[in-house]
Amino acid sequence: MKQLLSADQISRRVAELGTQLAADYRGRPLTVVGVLSGSVVFLADLIRCIDVPHQIGFVEASSYRGRTTTGSELTVSVDRLPDLTGRDVLLIDDILDTGRTLASLKALLAARHPASLRTAVLLWKDGTQQVDFMADYHAFRIPNAFVVGYGLDYNNDYRHRPDIVILEPQDLPSIGLRPSRPD
Ligand code: IMP
Ligand code: MG
Repeated sequence: MKQLLSADQISRRVAELGTQLAADYRGRPLTVVGVLSGSVVFLADLIRCIDVPHQIGFVEASSYRGRTTTGSELTVSVDRLPDLTGRDVLLIDDILDTGRTLASLKALLAARHPASLRTAVLLWKDGTQQVDFMADYHAFRIPNAFVVGYGLDYNNDYRHRPDIVILEPQDLPSIGLRPSRPD
């Protein structure tokens, strides 16, 4: 395993992003919506750095990808979503990879009549996007590698790590497989 981002680097950058978000949303009815489960660590740290009053909510998203690279079906649960009507919504996820998850969730939340809707990700994986979608905010741009820690998982493990590490083929012989879902 190779460390990509230390806990210190993450906490400094998350604080910086929180300060920027506080400035951007000051005086606005902000609701931060996290995508379960990958965003929980990022969300918990980030909201404590957004020094303006705001609410939080969650959506649960699981994708099931078939053997073909085109097949991807997203299952979404909105049971923990508060009313977003007239709110400034910031949708938060751990990582932007193909972009399919956030593109679909953004469309779904847009139908709930928010006053505004933006997205923020901890990690923007460079060069893997398959749909025309970009997050409004990102903490780090990273190379195309499979990473875990700080909420990100492999088969639901490693989320608790305080840093972010690259899982290499020698760490897991089955690394060529997609991570299992739900995530
Ligand atoms: P997307 O729809 O392809 O953008 O996928 C986003 C989801 O895939 C994230 O919420 C993660 O759960 C998962 N994912 C993508 N890349 C990684 C990675 O490098 N490590 C762990 N999970 C990942
Ligand atoms: Mg996830």
